[in-house]
Amino acid sequence: MSYLEKRSIRDIDLRKKRVIVRVDFNVPHKNSVISDDTRIRAALPTIKYLLEQEAMVILMSHLGRPKGKPNRLYTLRPVANRLAELLDHPVKFIPDCRGPLVNQAVAEMRAGDVILLENLRFLKEEEKNTPPFSAALASLADIYVNDAFGTAHRAHASTVGITNYLPSVAGFLIHKELMQLGKLISAAEHPFVAIVGGAKISDKIHVIENLLTKVDKILIGGGMANTFLAAAGHDMQGSLIEWESLEVARSFLAMPEAKERMMLPVDLIAAEKFAADAEFRAVELNDIPEGWTALDIGPKTIQCYGEEISRARSIFWNGPLGVFEMDNFAQGTLATAKAIAESSAFSVIGGGDSLAAVNKAGVADQISHVCTGGGAALEFVEGKILPGVAALDDKE
Ligand code: 3PG
Repeated sequence: MSYLEKRSIRDIDLRKKRVIVRVDFNVPHKNSVISDDTRIRAALPTIKYLLEQEAMVILMSHLGRPKGKPNRLYTLRPVANRLAELLDHPVKFIPDCRGPLVNQAVAEMRAGDVILLENLRFLKEEEKNTPPFSAALASLADIYVNDAFGTAHRAHASTVGITNYLPSVAGFLIHKELMQLGKLISAAEHPFVAIVGGAKISDKIHVIENLLTKVDKILIGGGMANTFLAAAGHDMQGSLIEWESLEVARSFLAMPEAKERMMLPVDLIAAEKFAADAEFRAVELNDIPEGWTALDIGPKTIQCYGEEISRARSIFWNGPLGVFEMDNFAQGTLATAKAIAESSAFSVIGGGDSLAAVNKAGVADQISHVCTGGGAALEFVEGKILPGVAALDDKE
């Protein structure tokens, strides 16, 4: 399946139509304050285009994982306010996503109105993808647009079920994300360097597997490097190891492609304990003091990874290389972000942590494409079909 075969909002008459749009407004937030509005900004081109068409725009999203029950910690109300500011256009928030309040608000809509429904995951029917809920959402509109790239790997009522009832097309964000990721995965210029970090091997083993068939080098960091290093026979002392993945890591390291292309840290930053103010120092492999824990890649690794990055023509990065929330253990991640920013390669960054890292390093605008999807980007890179995209109408 190619994204180019899918119908997009440019291929359908939207003028003065009721259009229901699945967006991914699952943004980092605390006490109703949104700490990063990247995903809201990313939805603006589609919403603005619909307003130009004088459509009636019904937006829907999830926020967090409220497990099928209303929970005021996960209300989308603050998102409606932020969207109205960014759009410079009123956005009416409806404190429900099904039922009389919603039906009435939709019935009263005029051309150019925008409403945002309450968090879809306040109802268990959303994640269960039930036909009655999908049909209820579909009954609000004439056309369905999916622009929630970050949620395209979920087969839910608002991403898949609804497409059984309405003409269903892709929005600009989905299109852009698939173009950029597609370019990287199927037509990357070489050398192609991938950097994969994060805590667990088990989350990313298939990503690494698929990348190994495409890249020239894959640089490993983060907690998962500890497990690979332990599997390679190094004494990791008190470092966090994913013991249940040790065997997988071992057989992986034995693969010829991994031997040729996978790079593990050559030194580490070890700390006395897992704490922001813990005593720490750079150590060689096998030199971690007794009971200490590895929390970042070391300076020699930064240098050697930086050299690989500077030679690359294409770069994909997912996952932090250390515990970058703590300043003393953020160097590996920040140096990587800067090295990618300085390179002239086509660079794609995916995942919330890597996004936070490029923002922290102040280099987000020097990255070719900062992806709004975490899990969705990884599944795409793994070579899986994204159900939210597959369900959209094919071009005629
Ligand atoms: C994400 O943040 O990756 C998406 O919004 C999907 O969220 P989920 O993992 O809770 O389905």
